[in-house]
Amino acid sequence: MKLFVDTGDLDEVKKAAEWGVIDGVTTNPTLIAKTGKPFKEVVLKICELMPEGAISAEVVATDYDTMLKEALEISSWNPQIVVKVPLIENGIKLVSTLTDKGIRTNVTLVFSVSQALMAAKAGATYISNFVGRVDDNGADGMDAVRDTVDMVNTYGFDSEVLVASVRHPLHVLESIRAGAHVATMPLKTLEMMFKHPMTDSGLERFLADWNKAGLSIF
Ligand code: G3P
Repeated sequence: MKLFVDTGDLDEVKKAAEWGVIDGVTTNPTLIAKTGKPFKEVVLKICELMPEGAISAEVVATDYDTMLKEALEISSWNPQIVVKVPLIENGIKLVSTLTDKGIRTNVTLVFSVSQALMAAKAGATYISNFVGRVDDNGADGMDAVRDTVDMVNTYGFDSEVLVASVRHPLHVLESIRAGAHVATMPLKTLEMMFKHPMTDSGLERFLADWNKAGLSIF
């Protein structure tokens, strides 16, 4: 299973990259706007900080011709870049075109299996199914993820199901149980994945015993 960090913050990307276990970075217009820096500069710096990673950068137009121009521009910046496209009618048309050109895509703002089917048929590399925003509205966001994973596996689509809008480690557990291919989340949620109170208390005891005995490795 792949893990992506969902951020435009370069310090966060650097920290996550140093762990050696993160497979890419997802950004969106909101995250880029928060940085206060130019889009291209941020995206290229992210590519530099995570040279093996898949880096998602999103188009912002909604008419097909401008979306295509933006997608070709963004993807020309670095081969690591995956063009992020919203799931609207023109978005699906764009993904079909980009798939024919061999350009990787991440279809975003996906909330239902019928939307996911459109993305899979257009050849999306990643289908970003949002869970937290559905949970916020009193439904179970993971339902669509489970059904989408089944759909992709049943029909043998190449698309990877990417669980987005992940808010806590329980979403990661549910993503694993659903057989999702990728989960993207903020750095603070990734950091929570390291934590267990028994790890902390266990380590404290090991080190106290070691020090009491006056032992040393060197
Ligand atoms: O980048 C897309 C998604 O992960 C956003 O999450 O927390 O804004 O719903 P959130």
